[in-house]
Amino acid sequence: MRKLLALALAAAMALSLAACGGSADSGDTTPADTGASDAADAAQDTGDAVPDAPAGGGTIGVCIYKFDDAFMTTYRNALQEILEGKGYSVTVQDGNNDQSKQNEQINTYITQGVDALIINPVMTSAADQIIATVKEAGIPTVLINREPTAEQMSAYDKLVYVGCDAAQSGTFQGELILDTPNKGDINGDGKVSYIMIQGDPENIDAQLRTEYSVKALTDAGVEVEELDSQRGDWDREKGQTICANDLAQYGDQIEVVFCNNDDMAIGALQSIQAAGRTVNEDIYLVGVDALDAALTEVANGNMTGTVLNDAVGQATAAVEEMEKLLGGATYASGSQSVYVDYVKVTPDNVADFQ
Ligand code: GAL
Repeated sequence: MRKLLALALAAAMALSLAACGGSADSGDTTPADTGASDAADAAQDTGDAVPDAPAGGGTIGVCIYKFDDAFMTTYRNALQEILEGKGYSVTVQDGNNDQSKQNEQINTYITQGVDALIINPVMTSAADQIIATVKEAGIPTVLINREPTAEQMSAYDKLVYVGCDAAQSGTFQGELILDTPNKGDINGDGKVSYIMIQGDPENIDAQLRTEYSVKALTDAGVEVEELDSQRGDWDREKGQTICANDLAQYGDQIEVVFCNNDDMAIGALQSIQAAGRTVNEDIYLVGVDALDAALTEVANGNMTGTVLNDAVGQATAAVEEMEKLLGGATYASGSQSVYVDYVKVTPDNVADFQ
């Protein structure tokens, strides 16, 4: 709870919401109608500009792609706390990483007559079907964490996506390596040799973090060598196994371990330590999310850095957008994504997030 409040405070300070796509017309009831800065204004000003939402008292159905995901656990707890704190009646369902199961959960919520839905899709590729279902039922819906395309969302004007710009988190990971004394080139051979432990490759977060972390290095003129790139599905144990195998195969050649998220980085750290390697001395390690365990390791010097994936900021924004929808707001095509900023976390500022 203390952490949640602290993060909420940090989120309030660091929060910068920007509408994705500049097409700028969200209809007359939506305040987020003139591009990024107006969206930011709107996010801070949900009071008078927004039509009255039923103050608490509504019934909200939340679908999470799977409960057994470290980051989404923080996120769903924040969502539940914020919604209940506002007086909503909330049910949260575990999709168990099974899209057909989640489809049934959505249908059940619709039959029960919920006032709004907040959905973390299991498969981004299922977005068309989810959107068609909620549209037919006329339920205001906020999608979170797995971003559909603007075109897919344009099918329904009572639908908005809240998330982050995954490219930014990748860029920040690359910058964490560029900020090291040798810019990642520990052995001084003129190139940074890395392994990439990816999330679920169907997920845009995994795709963009993989691409942009390396791009930050090459854009800075740093030569890179990819020793291995494998999917770890956001999972700690898979991160540990992939890293252990790579350390056995490539040994000292590995200078940087990029992980698409912290849970896999924590797993990788176990393998790094088991192999007798020392982070920030003979190997670098970066993740994304700023999980509690990762913050501890950054503070201890066992991770080079991480990137705050602001669960509380996103949960706050998701509830704000949901309330706008409940108040009658509609969203025009091209302005249906709301982004919360990522924040780089290093030993210098880690205390601000703990
Ligand atoms: C990402 C997060 C991962 C995982 C994933 C699930 O944003 O960094 O840890 O939770 O979402 O879609």
